[in-house]
This record gives sequence, structure tokens and C-alpha cells, in this order.
Amino acid sequence: MTRASLDKQPHEVASMFDDVAEKYDLTNDVLSLGQARLWRKEVAKAVDARPAQKVLDLAAGTATSSQPFVRAGAYVVPCDFSLGMLRVGKKRHPWMPFTAGDGTKLPFKDDTFDAVTISFGLRNIQDTDQALRELYRVTKPGGRVVICEFSHPTWAPFRTVYTEYLMRALPPVARAVSSNPDAYVYLAESIRAWPTQPELADRLKGAGWQKVAWRNLTGGVVALHRGIK
Ligand SMILES: C[S@@+](CC[C@H](N)C(=O)[O-])C[C@H]1O[C@@H](n2cnc3c(N)ncnc32)[C@H](O)[C@@H]1O
Repeated sequence: MTRASLDKQPHEVASMFDDVAEKYDLTNDVLSLGQARLWRKEVAKAVDARPAQKVLDLAAGTATSSQPFVRAGAYVVPCDFSLGMLRVGKKRHPWMPFTAGDGTKLPFKDDTFDAVTISFGLRNIQDTDQALRELYRVTKPGGRVVICEFSHPTWAPFRTVYTEYLMRALPPVARAVSSNPDAYVYLAESIRAWPTQPELADRLKGAGWQKVAWRNLTGGVVALHRGIK
């Protein structure tokens, strides 16, 4: 079983997700205490996919995160570099154009997508800035990005309780439900080390995105960042 470390070596990250692929979605629902569904609804509203628009869902994994855009009538391309996750996704959604690709060198031409989005994936990519530049490159001028990622609760007392949950409660629960509990130690560590909401907004601006803004969900457990090309 593989567990990535905070240097996020791509081969370790990919094989860690290969290992959890089969039970990934179930584990998500349990560990997020049901909040994952609510967060996905908010992502769908922010992306606001329209019929026939082209949407890239980067780090799509099993393409659970892609389904709201499919339901909106968009042409959705789920892209991920874990073949294990893609395989589970393809079994569930055989008609979708699953694409193997690395977020730091995307296999798409410039100015291809009306919207690009990434849910719980950016934190796992070794070179965040390069991924933000690649997302920018493949977006059409005027197109939009929506990033859904774990972040930092803004109210200090809640932040303390949440950090305790991450470091103490999450690993034993993960041991009960996940095929690779160590992957959830990495999850906790990588969330703690992730930039704050304003820091991530600055990184988006640095990659060229304009009108950058964010919204906190569940008190900042998750943040939705958006921008326009
Ligand atoms: C936590 S999962 C999120 C899956 C899905 N977006 C969701 O919301 O359920 C993170 C995904 O990021 C993918 N990933 C990590 N680094 C990547 C990279 N450099 N390029 C492409 N995918 C990557 C992993 O393989 C994994 O499937």
C-alpha cells in the first residue's frame, strides 16, 4: 500500500489513489460526514455548466465530481493520472471520455474548454502553480475556473475542533472504512499544510486568472475559488 508524503511525488500520489479507488467514494461520504454531497452541489452552482459547453474536470478520479455537469447537459471530460481511479470510473460511466493526463502537462490544446474545474485534486498536485497555469492555458478566453479544495476554518474555536478531528478521529475511522488507511494520514497532513484562502487566491492571480474570488463552505472546511480567463 502506498501513502504519499508531503513532497507529493507523482508516482506515489498516483499509486496511493490506485489503492483506494474501489472504496474511494464510500470512504469520502463517511469521512466528510455527508458534507461531500452538499459541497458538490455548490461546485455545480459555481461552474454553472450549460448544455453543449465543454467542461474539463481535472483530477476527476472516478468522475463522481463530474456528474453534476453531465446532468446540466455539458460535454464533460474527466481527466486524472491514476489509472486505478479511471478504471473504476469507466466501469460506472462507460460513455464518458475518461482521459489519462497529468495536471501539470495537460493533453489538451490551448483555449479548449468553457469551464475548467478541480475538486479535491489541486492539493495533491506537486507543482500547484504549474497546474493553475495549465488550467488557464486550456480554458477559452472568457472561460472560468472553479477550484473546490479543503481549506482552513475561519472561526478559531471551530478550527481547533476541526484540527483535532483531522489528526485524531479521522485516522481510526479511515482504518475502519478505507482500503488504505495511511492515505488518510496523508490527507490530514496535506490539508494542514495547504495555503489559506487568500494565499490560494494570490496563486490563481499569479497564474493569470482574473476576477479571483472565493467562498467558504462549512465554515471554511472547504473553499471554492473561482476566476475568469
Ligand atoms: C481526492 S481525489 C478527487 C477525485 C474527484 N475529483 C472527487 O472530487 O471525488 C484526487 C484525485 O487527484 C488525482 N491527481 C493527483 N495528482 C494529479 C495530477 N498531477 N494529475 C492528474 N490527476 C492527479 C488523483 O489521482 C485522484 O484521483
